[in-house]
Amino acid sequence: MYNINCLNNIAGIGLDLFTTDYNKDASYEEADAVLVRSAKMHDMELSDRLLAIARAGAGVNNIPLDKCAEKGIVVFNTPGANANAVKEQVILAMLLASRDYIGAVDWVKANADDADIAKSTEKAKKAFAGTEILGKKLGVIGLGAIGAMVANSAAALGMQVYGYDPYLSVNAAWSINRDVKHIVNVEDIYRECDYITIHVPALDSTKGMINKAAFNMMKDGVVVINCARDILVDENAMVDALASGKVKKYVTDFPNTLSVKLENTIVLPHLGASTKEAEDNCAVMAVKELRDYIENGNIRNS
Ligand code: MLT
Repeated sequence: MYNINCLNNIAGIGLDLFTTDYNKDASYEEADAVLVRSAKMHDMELSDRLLAIARAGAGVNNIPLDKCAEKGIVVFNTPGANANAVKEQVILAMLLASRDYIGAVDWVKANADDADIAKSTEKAKKAFAGTEILGKKLGVIGLGAIGAMVANSAAALGMQVYGYDPYLSVNAAWSINRDVKHIVNVEDIYRECDYITIHVPALDSTKGMINKAAFNMMKDGVVVINCARDILVDENAMVDALASGKVKKYVTDFPNTLSVKLENTIVLPHLGASTKEAEDNCAVMAVKELRDYIENGNIRNS
């Protein structure tokens, strides 16, 4: 009998994949394995009994990797399982930054009682006129599962896509549309692109990578999208870049951003992976990984 603890309310579907007896309602303290989504585990005790932690998501920055390594606790994540959900949000982010749908919907609701609203729509059409993404240059920094999907979809929508990833694997390279131009220096993305989206993990080496020096290289009126991790962007530099007009719009999935109240920032409450499909995919993948380890001793990160 294995004890599984779900630190977050991970969709139960995946737990039925265990073939041996297990107790899925085990407390954290008595768990052999833990399933976690976004709960921060850095300050939590790791019991001697704990064999493995599976994160239902891509990033593992909520898990104390060093402590796990010391104690021999195996950590899994679910790369790619929620990539499509995040990709769809990035495409939405580009469209929201290009056409003020949020303002337009608010305007219609605010004027809903106006019997002559139909007449005012001529004014609204002018006030909310936007731009198209077709033909614009998109820079994708990081071509892992999410970045590669974003690059391919943006190319299919007729954007000129530039991809940068110093660690690109051969398999990943094959999955990328041949219209996506591979860039060797990230600086070329900063200099060339109208839209820049970041898809790299949160590491010491990537912390604050979108900083003053990066903004200085960017085109005036660039759109920056961050559906990856908050710490990748130097928030003070972003506030300055928004104030000066260097950045026309900042779309971020992290509500703790310093620029949260600025008009040209669109902030979402970390919704990138929040679709039914992504949550199911992550739960199933995480449980398969745990099961394969606990039941067969296999370590495979899908
Ligand atoms: C991820 O790392 O894949 C996301 O943060 C997942 C989530 O929103 O839970």
